[in-house]
Amino acid sequence: MPLSTPPPAPAGLDAAIDRRYAPLAGAAGSLSCGGALDLAALRPGEHLVDLGCGRGGDVVRAAALVGDQGLAVGVDASEAMLAVARERAAAAPRARFVRGDLASIPLPSGRADVVISNCAINHAPDKAAVYREIHRLLRPGGRCVVSDVVAETVLPEAVRSDPDAWAACYGGAIPEADYLAAIAASGLGGIEVLRRTEPYERGGVRIRSLTLLARRPQEAP
Ligand SMILES: C[S@@+](CC[C@H](N)C(=O)[O-])C[C@H]1O[C@@H](n2cnc3c(N)ncnc32)[C@H](O)[C@@H]1O
Repeated sequence: MPLSTPPPAPAGLDAAIDRRYAPLAGAAGSLSCGGALDLAALRPGEHLVDLGCGRGGDVVRAAALVGDQGLAVGVDASEAMLAVARERAAAAPRARFVRGDLASIPLPSGRADVVISNCAINHAPDKAAVYREIHRLLRPGGRCVVSDVVAETVLPEAVRSDPDAWAACYGGAIPEADYLAAIAASGLGGIEVLRRTEPYERGGVRIRSLTLLARRPQEAP
């Protein structure tokens, strides 16, 4: 499928995401698929945005790393996740949370030094639109470090049209080459795959996790 035509969202995707993540908000156990924050080389004073922040663990950790002069902002679509995140961040004055969709993020342009995301962008039907938002949020020269899931092949229609498969972090996975092309189409550059797991099976399909780095180019002087 050409990049200019992102796959349609399966009917009922928002409801399926809510069904999956509302109960997981109060549960223990990792929802991540890589170590994006650990590889982001966050420095004191930096402004970070975490897309699909879930229960806010990375935002709280980032807020401690950026210190008094920095800021860490988590974005998520799930109120249940954000409620838990806000509670966890009660003693983290430099952490903030906003509700929003990955493809239309209610934050200002050009402010972030770093955007991270961990196992969230696979849920978005239009990955290129999410990466355009990342490009918009970053200041020129800023970087993104993303852990996400990609598919070994184009997934069968039965999986691509199943909203519960998308909510479970595999139905929305696209092949690595298409994923990297979506990033490049957003205007981000210097794209580098930092880590790539071996393929594994979910719901009868083969996927793997990547952690990648990309930068918003410096603007011409
Ligand atoms: C697998 S969890 C990962 C949470 C967190 N990043 C972590 O590593 O623990 C995916 C998160 O993405 C959020 N999410 C899914 N689709 C979204 C969308 N379209 N816009 C914003 N958040 C979304 C879910 O609510 C959930 O909190």
